[in-house]
Amino acid sequence: MATMVTETTYTYPPGPRGFPVFGNLPQFQRDPLTFLEGLHRAYGPIATVHMFSEPIVFAFRPEHAYDLLVERARSVGVGERPGLRARLGVSLLTTDGAMHRRQRRLVQPAFHRKRVEGYAEIMTSQTVEMLHGWHVGDEIDFAARLRELTLRIIIKALFDLDLAEEGTRLSRIFATVVDAQPSGFGTMLPPALLGLPFMPGHAAREMVRSAATDLDAFVYGLIVSRRAEGVDRGDVLSMLLEARDEDGQPLGEVEIRDQAMTLIAAGHETTFTALSWTLDLLSRWPEAYARLRAEVADVLGGSVPGAADLARLPYLDAVIQESLRLRPPAWSINRTPLEPITLDGYTFPVGSSLIVSPWILHREPSIWGDAEVFRPERWLDGSTEHLPRGAYFPFGLGPRICIGMPLAEMEMRLVLATILQQVTPVVVPGFRPIPRPRVTLRLANGLRVRLESAGTATPASALPKVV
Ligand code: HEM
Repeated sequence: MATMVTETTYTYPPGPRGFPVFGNLPQFQRDPLTFLEGLHRAYGPIATVHMFSEPIVFAFRPEHAYDLLVERARSVGVGERPGLRARLGVSLLTTDGAMHRRQRRLVQPAFHRKRVEGYAEIMTSQTVEMLHGWHVGDEIDFAARLRELTLRIIIKALFDLDLAEEGTRLSRIFATVVDAQPSGFGTMLPPALLGLPFMPGHAAREMVRSAATDLDAFVYGLIVSRRAEGVDRGDVLSMLLEARDEDGQPLGEVEIRDQAMTLIAAGHETTFTALSWTLDLLSRWPEAYARLRAEVADVLGGSVPGAADLARLPYLDAVIQESLRLRPPAWSINRTPLEPITLDGYTFPVGSSLIVSPWILHREPSIWGDAEVFRPERWLDGSTEHLPRGAYFPFGLGPRICIGMPLAEMEMRLVLATILQQVTPVVVPGFRPIPRPRVTLRLANGLRVRLESAGTATPASALPKVV
């Protein structure tokens, strides 16, 4: 007897014509952010592009973001994210459903606000140590230095380990691995496709393989030495080693490695990227920079800040929020339906690819007005109090909101305030960082800054009132 197969055909929103075989990949790879902006201008609220023959839908409205990330969070997942899975294994960033909830419960206690406040001293003391090697007049790659700093901080905070000389080496290895990442788009492709010679980063792939082996050796080393020590230090590593599943079984070596690697990678990559972009924006908007330096000098008077001081630094808070608006490190967030879902009148099948983009929504003129202007004052003058839901989400939204958000929020503020007490880094005239959107919004050529004296800060009372 013949079997009847019923197949629903799905209609996708319109989008630009692509190339044979490759689809829109070549246009996208040339300049992903400009391509996205053009896509939004040409197609409005929702558009489809093709990666090879795979349709990928970009949903550009705030209500789409809210719908996908919050209201229908249970009907969508992150999919396998093969590109990320190859590097980070089976972890919070690459699992869905019950497995994801279980992993989240396991790691969550390390990020409770009270616990995170306990990391403040680590953040400032590591920053002060870094500053010992900084001298007025020096020219440095701020992004590279901050990568190393944030790596040292996360490893000390979550794994109670001081990285001595190996910090610099490890930070370079991370840079190698991350630089070879495919674009945010590309992380959804199977590794077999990523390995094709024309895919970006192919040339570096061999180098990356050995760098990835080094990273694995480091993380497995951490696990082995802590097991041997047999002491509960109350940090994330101890939590992972102590954890038991429903059957009372401990996590396997690989499972612990995957979680640890994810937290180390996600825990420093985004943070140093955000701080580097913040410094770039401040250098280009000197009035905001002067106001920030004045606030820091007035409130802290040269002392190293603690978590409690942050409440007295509202302009610093506004600067960070504004920087995360204009340069969101997580510039796009993908979801895949676990059941057919309807968005903007279109129904999308299980397994399809949907993307919402903080990069686009954070610069939507109908929401922000002078969207391209770096104006921290908008966070102080009431104009952002009634933003539509889904308009601003640098840390994501809903049940998968960044687990490290409290840590990152405190770290960015404390590190920046500590640096500004000692020096004023200013981007070297003529230098322009090149945005390279990978999983995060990387700075392809780093950030060349010159260290100027902190003492040149104008007192707040002498500056024009902006608010
Ligand atoms: C400025 C800094 C940071 C930014 C902008 C950022 C951004 C984000 C965003 C947008 C997501 C949601 C992704 C999604 O919905 O698919 C996310 C998830 C995540 N972040 Fe962060 N993040 C930052 C810092 C950190 C830190 C410091 C850590 C860890 C110490 C961390 C660990 C994670 C993890 C593990 C997830 C996955 C959570 C889950 O799916 O349950 N992030 N982050």
